[in-house]
Amino acid sequence: MERFLDVACEAARLAGAVLMSYLGKLESIDEKSPGNLVTEADKVSEQTILTVLQRHFPDHGILAEESGVSGASESRYLWAVDPLDGTTNFAHRYPAFTVSIGLLVDRVPVLGVVYDPWRDELFSAIQNMGAFRNYQPIQVSGTTELARSLLVTGFAYDRRETPDNNYAEFCHFTHLTQGVRRGGSASLDLAYVACGRLDGYWERGLAPWDIAAGVVLVREAGGLVTAYDGSPFKLDSGRILAANGQLHRQMVDELARVSPLNIPFPVR
Ligand code: IPD
Ligand code: CA
Ligand code: CA
Repeated sequence: MERFLDVACEAARLAGAVLMSYLGKLESIDEKSPGNLVTEADKVSEQTILTVLQRHFPDHGILAEESGVSGASESRYLWAVDPLDGTTNFAHRYPAFTVSIGLLVDRVPVLGVVYDPWRDELFSAIQNMGAFRNYQPIQVSGTTELARSLLVTGFAYDRRETPDNNYAEFCHFTHLTQGVRRGGSASLDLAYVACGRLDGYWERGLAPWDIAAGVVLVREAGGLVTAYDGSPFKLDSGRILAANGQLHRQMVDELARVSPLNIPFPVR
């Protein structure tokens, strides 16, 4: 696993340098669906990561956001790659975006690297071996009350098409906490929960490449990662609740209590 981590870190750093070379110099920004942007930086970053992974692990599979499944897709080992997590932020030069590389074994996340090239912060973790920020150990916060917490969430690109758009949950927690941030990079949100800058995170509508790496970071930093109702986390469900152990229970209870917002739908 340590060799896997070294390779993932190398790939993340190379891809991070690619992203920084494109920052503020994008020639075209396309939309995959309303609000879901993709740029040449996403594509070149992804190709950079795939080249490194394929060279070192020709017998592993890869699931990458822009190119889908490649390599040995029947392998127990599957890399989940988000070459640019936070494309909207990146396109606006808002400094919250990462390269996220997770490794699944039999669909279970066991290794994660989240690299923020703007701040040169590399978050890494291997199952049962702890979590690190620039190779220094990290842990989740010790905040015990929601009233003293700072949470983070996000809104999926289908938010205009579904009443299950997280607006009610956002209002609910905004009332109960010191604040709720909307970071715009799911992997960075998870990395910040892992290192205690944020106390908890929930979101729906996520893809495996958004969160595979971050899940390992939070768990290895001592946090809990589950479904909204506290049941076991399922990578393919798109839903995640991650927090320190104390706040996690309270967030499960509050998520069960959220009442629908009385706003017209569809939202225009
Ligand atoms: C998005 C970000 C965002 C989350 C979206 C993701 P992308 O990833 O992680 O925080 O709210 O659901 O799709 O499109 O920037 O790679
Ligand atoms: Ca993403
Ligand atoms: Ca992406």
